[in-house]
Formats: sequence, structure tokens, C-alpha cells
Amino acid sequence: MLRFEGKVAIVTGGASGIGEATVRRLHQEGANVVVADIRPDAIDRLLDEIGPDRVMGHQVDMLYSAQIEAMVAATVARFGRLDILVNNAGIGSLGRVTEIDLPHWREVMAIDVEAVMWASRCAIPHLEAVGGNIVNVASTSGIAGDRGFLAYNAAKAAVINMSRSMALDHAPKLRVNIVSPGLTATPLAEGLTGHQELMAAWMDGGLPMARPAQPAEVASAIAFLASSDASYINGHNLVVDGGTTAWTGQPDFTRILGGVSHLEGRASAVVRAADGE
Ligand SMILES: NC(=O)c1ccc[n+]([C@@H]2O[C@H](COP(=O)([O-])OP(=O)(O)OC[C@H]3O[C@@H](n4cnc5c(N)ncnc54)[C@H](O)[C@@H]3O)[C@@H](O)[C@H]2O)c1
Repeated sequence: MLRFEGKVAIVTGGASGIGEATVRRLHQEGANVVVADIRPDAIDRLLDEIGPDRVMGHQVDMLYSAQIEAMVAATVARFGRLDILVNNAGIGSLGRVTEIDLPHWREVMAIDVEAVMWASRCAIPHLEAVGGNIVNVASTSGIAGDRGFLAYNAAKAAVINMSRSMALDHAPKLRVNIVSPGLTATPLAEGLTGHQELMAAWMDGGLPMARPAQPAEVASAIAFLASSDASYINGHNLVVDGGTTAWTGQPDFTRILGGVSHLEGRASAVVRAADGE
């Protein structure tokens, strides 16, 4: 059974990386999909690959509220309804509080936070009319801090908590959920995944799966939350990080201390005590 047959979805930032994989997944499963992106060349390439059926490209710069309004209006004009909004478009940011300038901070907040809010606002009347849902793409960087990621940490944390607020305000008419990817092999992360020294440091405990996620592995989580398989899941932050945030940051004692032998004497004493010896 096709989970999204007859449904209409907008995927912002849909022409690359996680957004592209989400477009492909929703489309494969029967949805009509709007590929909303700032880059017309990338939209055209993707449309050439997946064909003209049930798909529409729409150029949008999420920096501008009027363009976001036009994106939603064009979707409803073409397909007659809107069931799913995937707020995925986002930009990265490097810099500490003493290094960052205001125009950059404002750009990150505008694209990564304000556009999510405004697209949701424009879409919600249409989504509520059909019992639809929103999936917002945040990040593990919205759950805890990273060194040198000031604006991105702030923006993604805002996306997570804003989504929870929307989820409460608009249930039961629609659901709002979050997917928080860890490191994912997309053009956005190429500066990280392509850097040997950085990846070696990351592999040392920080990436339990010993590799970044593939975009399709994040898209499958987005598709799950957007589908009726998740019909009672609302306000949830689904972390797709291969276990990265399961780690407290402690070093691997067993490796550094040379196994568990130093604990064995005490452990066997505890077992004997429990057995009443
Ligand atoms: N790649 C990772 O490691 C990673 C990890 C956690 C979260 N994320 C998040 O996932 C989302 C997708 O990132 P990705 O890695 O697939 O990046 P990507 O760069 O491959 O894709 C992002 C897309 O967004 C589009 N875009 C950027 N600014 C836009 C704007 N102003 N208006 C419209 N479209 C715009 C780009 O043209 C691009 O097609 C982002 O929100 C990002 O923060 C990525």
C-alpha cells in the first residue's frame, strides 16, 4: 500500500541532501510533492530525474515571508490541498559569540527559525482542513551545545521547542513533529565529512555507527512521522543520529584502563553478598 497516495506535500530545501531524499521517498510512496528551493538549477535536475508526474518545482527564498506565502498558495492552486509540510531548508553557521556578527546571526535566525514559523503559519489552515501534519527538521545541535556553533545551536533548539508549542496548540486538528539528524552526508556537511582529521576525531566515540547518516536514512524517519503510521505521535523529537547523543562524553574506561579486570573482585563480592554468603 502506498502511504501517501492522494496526499500533497511541500518539502522546503527539497532540491538537495535530506530534502531531496525526502522528496524522493514521499513521491515513491504516492505523494504529490512540491520541491521548494532557492536553487532553480537543482530543482530542474531533480525534476528531470523523477519525472513530471505528481511533482512541481517552486523557487523560493525562505528569507522572505511573501515568497513563503506564494509557495503555499501555488501548492494549493496546483494540487487543491496540502497534507504535509516538511520544513527542511536550513543553513549552517560557524562561530563563537565573540566572533559572530549581527547580519549573520539574523540570517541564520531568519532562515532556520523564522521561516519555519512563517511557513507553518501559512500552511496550518490548509493542513487543519485535511488533518495533515508538519515535520520540522532540527538537529542534534538543537539538543545540546557544540563548540563554535553558537547561532546554529540557538536556531535548532528554537525549532525543537517551537514545534512542541505548535503541536500543543493545534492538536487534534494536526500533528507537529521534529526530526533531529546527527551528522549526515549532504552538501551542507561536506566541509565536515570531507575533513580527514575532523572525521577521525569524530569517530573516536562520537559516531557509534562509525559513519555519517545517508540522507535517505533521515528521509525515512521524516516519512514515518508524516505518515498515518505515526497517527498518535505529536510533539515528538525523533533523533536520527546513530547513537551519538546516547553518549555522555565519558571516555571508554574499559579501553583506557585495560579491560574490566580491576572491577571483577568487587563485582564477585557483591554477587556473593546478594547470594547471602
Ligand atoms: N547534513 C547534516 O549533517 C545535518 C545535520 C543536522 C541537521 N541538518 C539539517 O537538515 C536540513 C537539510 O540540510 P542538508 O544537510 O540536506 O543541506 P543541503 O545544503 O544539502 O540542502 C539544503 C537545501 O536548502 C536550500 N536552501 C538553503 N537556503 C534556502 C533558502 N533561503 N530558501 C530556500 N531554500 C534554501 C538549499 O538550496 C539546499 O537545496 C537543514 O535544516 C540542516 O540544518 C543537517
